[in-house]
Amino acid sequence: MKAVVALGILAPSVLAATVPNELFSSLVPQKILATFNDLPNPTQYPQYTDQRAGDWQYFNPNTWTSGFFPSTLYALNTRRTLCGATSRNGLGIANWLELGREASRALIPLETKNSQGHDVGFLSFPFVEELAVNPNSETAVTAINSFAKLLANRFNPTVGCTRSWDAPDPDFQVIIDNMMNLEVLFHSAELTNNDTLRTIGKKHADTTMINHIRQDGGTWHVLHYNTFTGAVTAKRTAQGFADSSTWSRGQAWGIYGYATMFKLTGKAEYRDTAVRLADYFLDHIPNDGIVPWDFNAPSPKPADSSAATIAANGLLLLSQLETTPSLKEKFSNAAIELLEKITELAWNPSWQSLLSNGTVNAPARNQLTGTVYGDYYFVKAGNELISMGLASCT
Ligand SMILES: *[C@@H]1O[C@H](CO)[C@@H](O)[C@H](O)[C@H]1NC(C)=O
Ligand SMILES: *[C@@H]1O[C@H](CO)[C@@H](O)[C@H](O)[C@H]1NC(C)=O
Repeated sequence: MKAVVALGILAPSVLAATVPNELFSSLVPQKILATFNDLPNPTQYPQYTDQRAGDWQYFNPNTWTSGFFPSTLYALNTRRTLCGATSRNGLGIANWLELGREASRALIPLETKNSQGHDVGFLSFPFVEELAVNPNSETAVTAINSFAKLLANRFNPTVGCTRSWDAPDPDFQVIIDNMMNLEVLFHSAELTNNDTLRTIGKKHADTTMINHIRQDGGTWHVLHYNTFTGAVTAKRTAQGFADSSTWSRGQAWGIYGYATMFKLTGKAEYRDTAVRLADYFLDHIPNDGIVPWDFNAPSPKPADSSAATIAANGLLLLSQLETTPSLKEKFSNAAIELLEKITELAWNPSWQSLLSNGTVNAPARNQLTGTVYGDYYFVKAGNELISMGLASCT
């Protein structure tokens, strides 16, 4: 299965982007089942691999990334629903829904106690998946409402944002990643009819739109506000190259976060913001097509495969929501090209992760690894392409 996609409005000299076969390889379910079988007892979750052998490193559930592996199991359940199980796609080796439920169990104690700040949004992801397959799941409803409440409690009306990282007042820190955590507020609002949760999500997105994005469409990683006045006191990086640079995963979270906000609210400014961030992202990819860990870092710039797969999902969502055919195609082609290039570089059959070449935190020298979120968004992108009719099941 190689779906060749015409390049639409892009220059005809550029080769057509091709959906990579690896997205639908039977190695995907094989590796993910092997990882499930390897989960320590009591449960710890994979976050990133080592650099040499590509073996998963396991972390206490009270970690920002704990929801991604259970969500990956749910994503394979979705894939099996879309495609069925065949000998070629290898999806018949497990009951992914049961595994997703089992792997989510160790997240439940975090509903009442965790130190993840705004990242409760990410922790809610498997429960959002559960709710989609079983709208009566009390486990999912309780988890979504609990995580949403924890995030809403971090909202400061003077600043107009939910707090990302904890720091003593008057220091109020917000990171661009926080855009990805707002969705849980909308799911909870749907369940409880509490519209305040939506108002908080929109206010956070509006404030971030004003302060967090540069004139050229790049983003800062971290903004510091004054808790009591709401004034912006500093704009800097934590995981990027410099305060004035654009960290690629942050930019990718921004694209996907604003596209999601557009989906949830229909507000055109959110779509326009997602497109602005996407244009910056695509315009700053070097000629080799590989997303570097920071767009403004000096060469050689190691890649961040997770930034590529997150941005690809943001672009696919923009394509789904777009009504102008040429733009619809522009966004989906850009996503396919990102996936094609990153698969060529980072698909790594001998590692436990699906992809290598992730950058967790370059300033901390944590890079050249697999990442659980990079893999999750790789699987999810495959599902989206199938749902959109841009790839076919194997
Ligand atoms: C709605 O949610 C907000 C934020 O969590 C909370 O302060 C408020 O009490 C909730 N309203 C109701 C009626 O539960
Ligand atoms: C990709 O990963 C391999 C193996 O770690 C490394 O040798 C290579 O330099 C990386 N490439 C990029 C662009 O990061």
